[in-house]
Amino acid sequence: MKQQTNWLKILQECKDNIQKQIIPLLKTLDRPQPDLGIGAGGDEIKQVDLAAENAIISTIRKYGVSFTLISEESGVKEYGENPTQNYVIADPIDGTTNLTRGIPFYATSIAVSTKPTLNKVHTALVADLRHGTTYTAEKGNGAKRENKKIKPSKTMAIEKAVIGLDLNTYKVKEIISQVMALTEKTKHIRHLGANALELCYVADGKTDAFIDIRGKLRTTDVAAAWLIIKEAGATITTPEGKPLNAKLDPKQKVAFIASANSEIHKTILGLINSKKEKP
Ligand code: IPD
Ligand code: CA
Repeated sequence: MKQQTNWLKILQECKDNIQKQIIPLLKTLDRPQPDLGIGAGGDEIKQVDLAAENAIISTIRKYGVSFTLISEESGVKEYGENPTQNYVIADPIDGTTNLTRGIPFYATSIAVSTKPTLNKVHTALVADLRHGTTYTAEKGNGAKRENKKIKPSKTMAIEKAVIGLDLNTYKVKEIISQVMALTEKTKHIRHLGANALELCYVADGKTDAFIDIRGKLRTTDVAAAWLIIKEAGATITTPEGKPLNAKLDPKQKVAFIASANSEIHKTILGLINSKKEKP
């Protein structure tokens, strides 16, 4: 009988190898960096991004599995005889700016799916590379931090909630009126600079929601955290409250609201949508 691929084990090994590959590069960040061009996701490629991506590719190839890689850096690439059997969606380093500036909050995000759509992701890993904390999920099997099941918070009061909000866009004017009603009621707004990891904080009860309605975040950044959020029992929808699904592609963008529970989600959706028609 054909043995099933243990994707979780492979993803853990990818993370270990990424850490090994980037450690020497972290010591060279104060030196002039080579120009490596623009990645498939549209951002400048840094040495650390490439080293992390290469670690993912070489680790998976060692297992002889066929796969299509959908990555923020080199885009879509096929490996093995049946590349459409597995899709590996990677943001090798989420939070590259934090990493290059010495801010200790950056992660790797890797998801595996049977089709190139978000709702077919079955295995996921997001690892905080600086602190070594790893979040994982397998469809139907819950979400874990360091192999221990995690649960989102039960916070319902918006006044007490800690809410992540990404306003990092030149088009901030287009969304500011939508978040105004929310920010007027909230005391604890955060943006830490690595959205995959910030979504895991919602899954883990560290924060109560994460809002990114810019329509700017790539599916490569969100694929793994999407499953971790769902498997932890938290909620993630479009800003209109519809199920979040999207094509997995380095250029495909998403907008979403993730919340710890359905009560606070309803409140946030209400506040976000209250100002929509009246700019
Ligand atoms: C970035 C981070 C950041 C978000 C950006 C993303 P990257 O990911 O998640 O918090 O504001 O939109 O691009 O570029 O470091 O992989
Ligand atoms: Ca990245």
